[in-house]
Amino acid sequence: MGPPDPILGVTDAFKRDTNPKKVNLGVGAYRTDEGKPWVLESVRQAEATILKENLDKEYAAISGLAEFCQASARLAFGDDSDVIKNQTNATVQCISGTGSLRIGAAFLAKWYQGNKTVWIPNPTWGNHTSVMKHAGLDVKSYRYYDPKTIGFDFKGAIEDIKNIPETSIILFHACAHNPTGVDPQKEQWDELSSVVKNRNLFVIMDMAYQGFASGNIDEDAYAVRKFAKDKHNMFLAQSYAKNMGLYGERVGALTIVCNDKEDVDRVMSQLKIIIRPMYSNPPINGARIAAKILTNQDIRQLWLKEVKLMADRIITMRKQLVDNLQKVGSKKNWQHITDQIGMFCFTGLDQQQVERLTKEFSIYLTKDGRISMAGLTSKNIEYVANAIHECTK
Ligand code: LMR
Repeated sequence: MGPPDPILGVTDAFKRDTNPKKVNLGVGAYRTDEGKPWVLESVRQAEATILKENLDKEYAAISGLAEFCQASARLAFGDDSDVIKNQTNATVQCISGTGSLRIGAAFLAKWYQGNKTVWIPNPTWGNHTSVMKHAGLDVKSYRYYDPKTIGFDFKGAIEDIKNIPETSIILFHACAHNPTGVDPQKEQWDELSSVVKNRNLFVIMDMAYQGFASGNIDEDAYAVRKFAKDKHNMFLAQSYAKNMGLYGERVGALTIVCNDKEDVDRVMSQLKIIIRPMYSNPPINGARIAAKILTNQDIRQLWLKEVKLMADRIITMRKQLVDNLQKVGSKKNWQHITDQIGMFCFTGLDQQQVERLTKEFSIYLTKDGRISMAGLTSKNIEYVANAIHECTK
């Protein structure tokens, strides 16, 4: 018997709990203020439009829906980027962000000529290490988060990256770092880019939250666009789970940035050879929805509003959590809750405090003290604040 998954296992435990007051702050999935999953209106409109088109259910290409792949790369890199203008993106539709990372990692394991160790931030998303190791890459970490300041350890990160053996692989969260909610500032990204360039590292950009950090998809693409502009060897993994709420549709894209169109053809050919024995070709439904949202101007405008609405609700919950912690009498400094961005808050709670929250209050979160802000609602926030206060005083 193996251990439960550190993130998805929390949902299983939550489901088993019979306490009516239980709260799930584990998995990063958006909830409305009623605590319900939300199917975006833009998704509903895209589905209705697709239904009218009366499409068939034939297999997609091994690389997925071409229209989706192009629209996805455009969203990330921006219409005026060299990557898009010169069509140097080898983009394949993958099984959401995880699948994109896994295919990209398999490609590096097979073809990368440099040092095959991936350097990941410490801490990072609970699945990164497993995905990379599963593909046959080694994993090491660089400093990222400073528990003393509950912020980005810029100095530590730069120091560590300067010492990474040349030609190794480095992974960044493009925006809304999971689990800490702590992102580099723009000038810090600029410096990271130049240090990474000096070490001649291959860059993996994991972008699972475009739009979720600031509510603006261009703003959140800053790091990806900067690194592309600085002409790094890189791949990008995109997910539409969060920003389109297409969690179970498993829609995402992997883009390997190439030097020229000939490279693109060769890379596409090798990606197909990797994908075919793994799952043959990707599912069509989610990719059709995402493509429709990205290419139909009316639906796209609606979607942009909805992304902002989700981001704003989370920002409001951050403020309310701090207010409620003060209201219930906590004298601690909780400013990091409003400083952090994206779907998660890294509370700073230790494992014992997390265990108490779950055992005594039926509040579920990952062991590292991460809470999914979207699980908070105006109805449960006081209960959660009080429980956090009880466990931290
Ligand atoms: C999370 O970190 O909660 C999400 O990315 C969901 C997942 O697959 O782990």
